[in-house]
Amino acid sequence: MSRYVVLLGPPGAGKGTQAEAISDKLHLPHISSGDIFRENLKNKTELGLLADTYISKGELVPDDVTIAMIRDRLARLDCKDGALLDGFPRTPTQAEALATMLSDFGGQVFKVPYICVPEDVLIERLAGRWTCRAAGHIFHEKYNPSKKPGVCDFDGSELYQREDDKTETVKRRIRVYLEQTQPLIDYYTQRNLLVEVDGKKPIEQVTKDLLSALQGNGKS
Ligand code: AP5
Ligand code: MG
Repeated sequence: MSRYVVLLGPPGAGKGTQAEAISDKLHLPHISSGDIFRENLKNKTELGLLADTYISKGELVPDDVTIAMIRDRLARLDCKDGALLDGFPRTPTQAEALATMLSDFGGQVFKVPYICVPEDVLIERLAGRWTCRAAGHIFHEKYNPSKKPGVCDFDGSELYQREDDKTETVKRRIRVYLEQTQPLIDYYTQRNLLVEVDGKKPIEQVTKDLLSALQGNGKS
């Protein structure tokens, strides 16, 4: 049976950090809509340049563009048995589109861990986040520092601070999350798929809690 897991949570909740930690253990490819947009921007593709006009303002990229991009990605062979989705879906329209595309692929959403973190914590996390230029590995100057400041532990590439992590943009992103993405908590609760995980705990503890929330049908 295919397993598509949706990681839900506000900006800075730890979706990317946890996806990096559990993707191998679950044998599921990590599909991050934000990472795909940023990769496209790095390569200056039409999609990347378009997405950046929204991302830089803390707004969502339009549904039709985002849905088409994720559909293409999930249609690839590595996702045929499932995927760990990070940052998609983010609106009710995207959630409906995901259900339709997965049923076309012969699958369905397996579980939706909701990483719950209060707003004041999010702002501090994003202000101190450092991301690796080459592959998007995630660090925090206080909570998960790299061994050598400014250098990725995994591939030696430069660490940078995301443009959209400036406090004003972060506040906008959190507002957009509350308006457009929070309704998905009800959407997936009604479908008995939501499992809440306390994202305030240390990174390793959240990883354990997530794995146990997903346990039972795991392939590991
Ligand atoms: P995206 O890249 O998805 O950003 P986001 O959802 O705002 O989430 P973040 O990546 O900021 O946070 P995260 O939850 O991954 O946290 P992380 O693990 O890094 O999207 C960016 C933009 O792209 C959007 O604003 C939008 O414009 C566009 N976009 C993307 N998807 C879209 C879609 N579906 N539709 C339309 N537009 C879309 O952790 C944060 C920091 O905290 C790190 O420094 C980390 O080290 C630290 N940390 C993590 N966990 C802990 C912990 N437990 N304790 C202490 N520190 C921790
Ligand atoms: Mg992320």
